[in-house]
Amino acid sequence: MDLSFFAAGAAHGPVNPWVALAYLVAGVFFILALRGLSSPATSRAGNRNGMIGMAIAVVTTLVTHDIANIVEIGVAILLGGIIGITVARRVAMTAMPELVAAFHSLVGLAAVLVGLAAWLNPTAFGITDADGQILVASRVELGLGIAIGAITFSGSVIAFLKLSGKMSGSPILLPMRHVINLGTLLTIIGLVAAYAMSGAGGAGEGLLVVWITLAAFIIGFLLIIPIGGADMPVVVSMLNSYSGWAAAAMGFTLGNTAMIITGALVGSSGAILSYIMCRAMNRSFISVIAGGFGADDSAGGGEAREQRPFKQGSAADAAFMLEQAEKVIIIPGYGMAVAQAQHALREMADLLEEKGVEVKYAIHPVAGRMPGHMNVLLAEASVEYDKVFELEDINSEFAQADVAFIIGANDVVNPAAKTDKSSPIYGMPVFDVDKAKQVFFIKRSMGGVGYAGVDNDVFYMDQTMMLLSDAKKMVEEIVKAID
Ligand code: TAP
Repeated sequence: MDLSFFAAGAAHGPVNPWVALAYLVAGVFFILALRGLSSPATSRAGNRNGMIGMAIAVVTTLVTHDIANIVEIGVAILLGGIIGITVARRVAMTAMPELVAAFHSLVGLAAVLVGLAAWLNPTAFGITDADGQILVASRVELGLGIAIGAITFSGSVIAFLKLSGKMSGSPILLPMRHVINLGTLLTIIGLVAAYAMSGAGGAGEGLLVVWITLAAFIIGFLLIIPIGGADMPVVVSMLNSYSGWAAAAMGFTLGNTAMIITGALVGSSGAILSYIMCRAMNRSFISVIAGGFGADDSAGGGEAREQRPFKQGSAADAAFMLEQAEKVIIIPGYGMAVAQAQHALREMADLLEEKGVEVKYAIHPVAGRMPGHMNVLLAEASVEYDKVFELEDINSEFAQADVAFIIGANDVVNPAAKTDKSSPIYGMPVFDVDKAKQVFFIKRSMGGVGYAGVDNDVFYMDQTMMLLSDAKKMVEEIVKAID
């Protein structure tokens, strides 16, 4: 096949219109992918569009560059593909956030390595002037790309260690951390500026690149260690955003518009998602990205709890009351994911609906351990999308509900978020389950706490019946009792 018409698209030469067109088409597919991923109903199509866009971008890049060794690239793609498929098949839904954090660290590291490769061999990347010196604009892109990539790498490694429990999830608050962070950030900016101005090459310039890399690795680490508890989801999405900006900066260095478009899409969508999550948890966006700004040194929970009286019920009690109800609102949370109770839950809802009970699902934006976690699980159990409601759309309906059926959720129904200023979840909007006539609360024991590690007054309310069991087992028993 004659591909010569593509030939001028590489590096920083004049952009061949066919290459530009191919990358533009890939960009359109990426936008359609993001659009599709905004709803469970269209997410499969979104994924498909993303894959088509990526295939177009990769093939275009391969046919428009002088490839030293296509076999090596093929083997790398094959190996990466096999690892990706294996990990995706094996990973538990609950371990998804740490997997995402681990993958982001690789994106950050890739950006650092591409930047270092371009710095070591600038001619091959077409970023030199007539004297063989790296262009000033390329130095800025290189410096920023390496810095953002290194921050993404070390920050993601810490997020992975915290989320996977390999390191304490509590905030680690260094004295004068804001001064240290600001100082390190200003140092990085100064180093990038010095690198951009230094046109001499040689050892001094090399030292600057090494210092940029090291300082950025350090600030990534410093920014994430003070963040703990309920802010972690925002961090993962923020690192997603950083990895996008790192890729975009590298796209400029490589003169690759597809990378710039993709990086900017990932960067901005990650930032928007972080902002939405901050609003859902009533956290300040700036405080999270600045690294625990305003975090209370005593936050974190896990304190000893006083014994208080509560009512415990059985599956038969719950089944009886559910059958009598007119309206039931189900609030799923992390425990439903752990127990994989979604299929049994769907069966229970079907039986109730057959008996004329209205059943709705209420999803908190940060229920579970990743954005959309509950939506994915309910979709897997074929729950119709029109029965699934966001917090702001359903919260007013608890006053008319006969039963608020809490299954594995905890923090997202904790009224301390509304009333207790000292609580680590204070300010997070929560479901008004106390307004329902009856509250059923499924969890395994009274000892277990939610993610934020704090007690929950809902356990002890007059209208609450604790159903202490594994969520799947309890719902299966309720299903049997309804039958
Ligand atoms: P959590 O507050 O984490 O509570 C989980 C509940 O499930 C606990 O009461 C636990 O009690 C129970 N549970 C665990 N395994 C169970 C099982 N097998 N069967 C029955 N119950 C079980 O859950 P949530 O309400 O979904 O809140 C989410 C929290 O995670 C928020 O604080 C949020 O900020 C944070 N977070 C969210 C995300 C995202 S993006 N969604 C990411 C990271 C962190 P027992 O142990 O007694 O069973």
